[in-house]
Amino acid sequence: MSKLMTPLCHALGITIPVIAAPISASPEFVAAVSNVGGLGVIQATWLSSEELRKAIAEVRSRTDRPFGVNFILSLTVEQGHANLDAALEEGVPVVSTFWGDPAPVIERIHSAGAMAIHTVGSAEEARRVVDLGVNAVVAQGVEAGGHVCGEVSTLVLVPTVVDAVPDTHVIAAGGIADGRGLAAVLALGAEAAWVGTRLLLARECNIHPA
Ligand SMILES: Cc1cc2nc3c(=O)[nH]c(=O)nc-3n(C[C@H](O)[C@H](O)[C@H](O)COP(=O)(O)O)c2cc1C
Repeated sequence: MSKLMTPLCHALGITIPVIAAPISASPEFVAAVSNVGGLGVIQATWLSSEELRKAIAEVRSRTDRPFGVNFILSLTVEQGHANLDAALEEGVPVVSTFWGDPAPVIERIHSAGAMAIHTVGSAEEARRVVDLGVNAVVAQGVEAGGHVCGEVSTLVLVPTVVDAVPDTHVIAAGGIADGRGLAAVLALGAEAAWVGTRLLLARECNIHPA
């Protein structure tokens, strides 16, 4: 058993407090993260419902550990909730959302028995989405790669979010690239690190070689 088990690890059923950001829809990558005890998350924003169901099935063929799906809400407006419905019908245990209001989807996520995680860039936003019912927040610092929502750096943001939502699991994102970064955000009160850029270099991640 990992010595780094946190309350969030128990809630998610993982053994290492590391979550791979949704940087890829590669089932091989997502399953590899879950297989070593972290949580892999499928990037589902740019998949059709059919592709998403296929990706979920492929992840399941490679791991029996928990994993999640991620939706950038403001970019999935046109497709409605078709992909979310697909993920929930397939029994995905964790749904992560970003960029947009999670209010319309939280109840559906919970009704399906899944955990709702939303990414925030400020303590105020964290308080708001926790009051809406999300189970965990990702506190994303401005140094994060890819899609970013806030203006505060990770080192400053994480403790303010921890203080704003003291009874909620807080996950830290932005600039975490090794064990020292993980130790630092755990010391700040986060219960896991959410890692993106560093994992682009993973062999299993299907990004362009350049
Ligand atoms: C290539 C890339 C793609 C990303 N795509 C998404 C996405 O689709 N949805 C999302 O919620 N976050 C996305 N992010 C942001 C990550 O979830 C995360 O907040 C960020 O990578 C953390 O900072 P780091 O890159 O310094 O580890 C992306 C990040 C990268 C680097």
